[in-house]
Order: sequence, then structure tokens, then C-alpha cells
Amino acid sequence: MNLTDKFQKLKKEKKAVVLAHNYQRSEIQDVADYVGDSIELSRKAMLETQAEIIVFAAVDFMAESAAILNPKKKVLLPTLGARCPMAQMLTVDEVKRWKTLYPDAPVVLYVNTLASAKAYCDVCCTSANAVEVINSLEAETVLFGPDRNLAEYVAEKTGKTLIPIPEWGFCPTHLLFQPEDVTALKLQHPDAAVMVHPECSAEMRKVADFVGSTSKMCHYALECKAKTFIVGTEEGLLHRLRKENPEKQFFAAYADAVCPNMKLTTLDRLYAALKEEKHVIKVPDAIAKKAIVALERMFEIKS
Ligand code: 13P
Ligand code: SF4
Repeated sequence: MNLTDKFQKLKKEKKAVVLAHNYQRSEIQDVADYVGDSIELSRKAMLETQAEIIVFAAVDFMAESAAILNPKKKVLLPTLGARCPMAQMLTVDEVKRWKTLYPDAPVVLYVNTLASAKAYCDVCCTSANAVEVINSLEAETVLFGPDRNLAEYVAEKTGKTLIPIPEWGFCPTHLLFQPEDVTALKLQHPDAAVMVHPECSAEMRKVADFVGSTSKMCHYALECKAKTFIVGTEEGLLHRLRKENPEKQFFAAYADAVCPNMKLTTLDRLYAALKEEKHVIKVPDAIAKKAIVALERMFEIKS
């Protein structure tokens, strides 16, 4: 029996469900029960009733959100090192400092934050619903973190003032994309549609036909008439795009845009994690009680 078959057998025995982010390795996406973006995976985890174990093939903050939203389930993060560097960029002290500077401004935090920071915000958002979340607020000035590029994109879309907290938060993987690479690819594929994640720079957004979350890019690729696409996000998404659109062609806007944290989850590690039921993600009650309010508010907003 190969490792994939062994894993599928173990998954059944343990009554486990595997939720994998769109940036996971192809072999992980292929053994997962569900592959999606951060809001879809959070919703799946929240609504899971059958499985006894949720294996979260992704990074720390996504597994933390699952543990908060479905505290009765055992949530496993296969590799403890899979930590999103952007989430580490916003400390609780920094959130408190900005709240003191702008006491009347609501705090909206991207889900790419640690649970301890979420506990100090009014509402969470993902890249799929950030515009709707900001539009749902009466306030014209909002503290928004940690991704500065997403803050700028949402400010453009809503016309509101978003104060980025910290001033410089970013995703190291999306920082790698440069518009010159897109221009060069466009010379070879002039009819290609360009899609980029809002964590990319403003310069990348300018050369894009579509800006959206990873799953929104998948929907765009399915619906768009173009036959060729240039993709400005982590390379893992190409696997899903190619699987869902075998007749279309997808080119990475920058082939080395890899999130090393997402890639820490290998099939060996996934198997070992489920076998040994590690690493169990638990969020302290005091933090979870506050953070769940911000996450649930996000789910109440129509997007
Ligand atoms: P999505 O919600 O678009 O999947 O993004 C998550 C992420 O970490 C992007 O870098
Ligand atoms: Fe974090 Fe960027 Fe990796 Fe997404 S791609 S998990 S934001 S480091």
C-alpha cells in the first residue's frame, strides 16, 4: 500500500477530515477532503459535525481559527513550524498602542493574525470579504492590520481611510512579485488574463485584470473566457487551477513565489501527525472567548 492509500485508510479509522489550503503541496491537496481559501476553510471547520479530528493542512493562524470556531473537535496542525510570518508581525501590544492613538476607530484584523491579536479587534476579515467587512462599518476611519497592501486595496475599493497596523506589515511570498515579470510574460502570451492576490503590491494590482482571494481566483478562471492566465499568488494554487481547467493554460507570474511555511506539510508529516494525533491546537479560553466574537461577526456580514 502506498502512503496515500495508508493515509486514506487511517483517515477513515480515525474519523478525520482533512482541510487543506490552496497553497498546500499537490499531493496534500489530492488527499484532502476539502481544498479552499481561508474563509472557506474556517467555515468548513466551524460547521464540521461528523469528524472527530480536523487535520488542518495550512499554517498556524488557520488552525487556531478552526480550534476557536469548533472547540469540541480535536484540531491538528501537522507541522508546528508552519507559522505565517505576516501573522507574527502584529503583536497585541501594537494593537493596543494604535487603539490608544485612535480610540474612536474600529479595529479590523485580517485572519492572518494570531488569536491573541484577534481578541483585541472588533471584526475579522479575509481577502475574500475585506471590502464588504469595511463597508459594513459606519466608521470612515478604520485601524486595519497586518497587511499593508490589503489595507491599500480595500481603501481604494471603499473610499475609506484605513490606517495600516503595523505601518509595514507584508507577506514575504507576495512581495516577490514584480510587474516587469508580468510585462515580459504578456509579450509571450498577449491574450492572457492576469490575476493577483491583494497581498501583492499596488504595482502588481495595476497590471492585473482581476484581484481576489485564492478561491476567488479559481472562480474567475472557471468563468473567464480567456484560455491563458498569468497567476500572481503562491505557486500551490496552480495545481488546483490546472486540475479544474484542463483545457486552459496557467503561468506563474513568478515561479519561485513559494510560501515555505505552507510547504512544510509533506505527506509523511501529514500521516505521522494523524497517526500520533499531533499537534493539537488549543487556544486559551480567555483569548478564544474574545476572538470568536470577531470571527463570528465576520461570518454575519454578507459577501
Ligand atoms: P486566501 O484567503 O486568499 O486563501 O489567502 C490566505 C493567505 O495566506 C494568502 O497569502
Ligand atoms: Fe502567510 Fe504569505 Fe504564506 Fe499566506 S503566503 S501563509 S500570508 S506567508
